Amino acid sequence: VQKPCNFVLKKRVVRQSKFRHVFGQPVKNDQCYDDIRVSRVTWDSAFCAVNPKFVAIIIEASGGGAFLVLPLSKTGRIDKSYPTVCGHTGPVLDIDWCPHNDQVIASGSEDCNIMVWQIPENGLITALEEPVVVLKGHSKRVGIISWHPTARNVLLSAGCDNQVIVWDVSTGEAMITLEDMHPDVIFSACWNRNGSLICTACKDKTIRVIDPRKETIVAEKEKAHEGARPMRAIFLSDGNVFTTGFSRMSERQLALWNPESMDEPISVHEMDTSNGVLLPFYDPDTNVVYLCGKGDSSIRYFEITDEAPFVHYLSTYTTKEPQRGMGYMSKRGLDVNKCEIARFYKLQERKCEPIIMTVPRKSDLFQDDLYPDTAGPDPALEAEDWFEGKNGDPILVSLKNGYVPGKNRDLKVVKKNILDNKAKNTEKTGPATKTGDVKLDEILNEIKSLKELVSSQEKRIIQLEEQMSKIAI
Ligand SMILES: *[C@@H]1O[C@H](CO)[C@@H](O)[C@H](O)[C@H]1NC(C)=O
Repeated sequence: VQKPCNFVLKKRVVRQSKFRHVFGQPVKNDQCYDDIRVSRVTWDSAFCAVNPKFVAIIIEASGGGAFLVLPLSKTGRIDKSYPTVCGHTGPVLDIDWCPHNDQVIASGSEDCNIMVWQIPENGLITALEEPVVVLKGHSKRVGIISWHPTARNVLLSAGCDNQVIVWDVSTGEAMITLEDMHPDVIFSACWNRNGSLICTACKDKTIRVIDPRKETIVAEKEKAHEGARPMRAIFLSDGNVFTTGFSRMSERQLALWNPESMDEPISVHEMDTSNGVLLPFYDPDTNVVYLCGKGDSSIRYFEITDEAPFVHYLSTYTTKEPQRGMGYMSKRGLDVNKCEIARFYKLQERKCEPIIMTVPRKSDLFQDDLYPDTAGPDPALEAEDWFEGKNGDPILVSLKNGYVPGKNRDLKVVKKNILDNKAKNTEKTGPATKTGDVKLDEILNEIKSLKELVSSQEKRIIQLEEQMSKIAI
């Protein structure tokens, strides 16, 4: 069999990749979320978190901290009076959707607390002030939170007290506290694919790979990037670590590391001399890394392979407006019929604009080479199992039939510390110490919000009936 000669030529000249021609496109204007007062707090997190049901955005709030949670379909102008999640007493710094329950989101704040929230099925009708649980343990602001990828109800946090805490959310307990590992502010903290390890980037310019349950540093690299500006570090699915940072000459860099031998990077790339922190977003299914610089107006993307130079530049999506933050849709939320392989939610001054990344293909059929089975919503193990030392890989699902809703049972928190429970209840709802009273509160709250819903719908029905009667005349 003779190979067509252009194949040989192509292979020699240009590296073959399905993702070479991936292009980005903003949605139409009426599909954006408008009039949003995006947070101005000085902290380099993404400010936005997205799942297949909701987009959450940290916003400006006077005298406290708040974020919006909008059903994805709630596009257009967002009224100033739209209800927010507003239980924190200081600005919210980071938010993260639970990967195993699309109704549950966690937030970290300048008030030193982490709060975990249960969002009603169809979004907020009234302001949400009461979290399901408050996780108290940090002594300074909490800038980073991240759910465990495969164990239910396990959450990691990193604070400006230079501590990393791993929580059992189902009991509200700080199970692991890594106190003496970081001498300075932690810039990023992330889990590996099965959640057996953590990788952090610290202001001391060191990248650390940590076994949280053994409370040991497995590997580290000092001066991973020599510049003083913030670094980021994430795990790739093969266990390697991808970092962004700055050179001594303040050029932005990316690098790839093997934790087994951190002395030298597998590869380093110099990018440019802007000073925005490069936030990496990674798709383990395609091995594509998207870099969104804070304050940049572009998304650059790279494919990572096991052939030199390992990190291959693909392309850049550019607009005029700089980005204040960026949300990254989970794979389950993508439109596979349009060959969409990533979706971003770009935060501008007063707007959130979805950006669709597409592989140009003609066929309308499901492209199984673009969509290998992906991490689904079911956890592989329970919190106890993980704390006892078990690991589990993500439970994969096919994307062939589109959106996979999770089994959204309500998050239940059973506090082991009774004193804690008492304090919380008296603080918020008067002297209620029995769980029965808490239950009653929940029911009353739900009745209240349902009544409000009914009354607002009634008003709408009257309006529509009036309109109808005019047309009928
Ligand atoms: C979890 O990941 C680690 C590091 O990549 C690996 O050594 C371990 O075998 C994995 N465990 C399971 C159960 O997948």
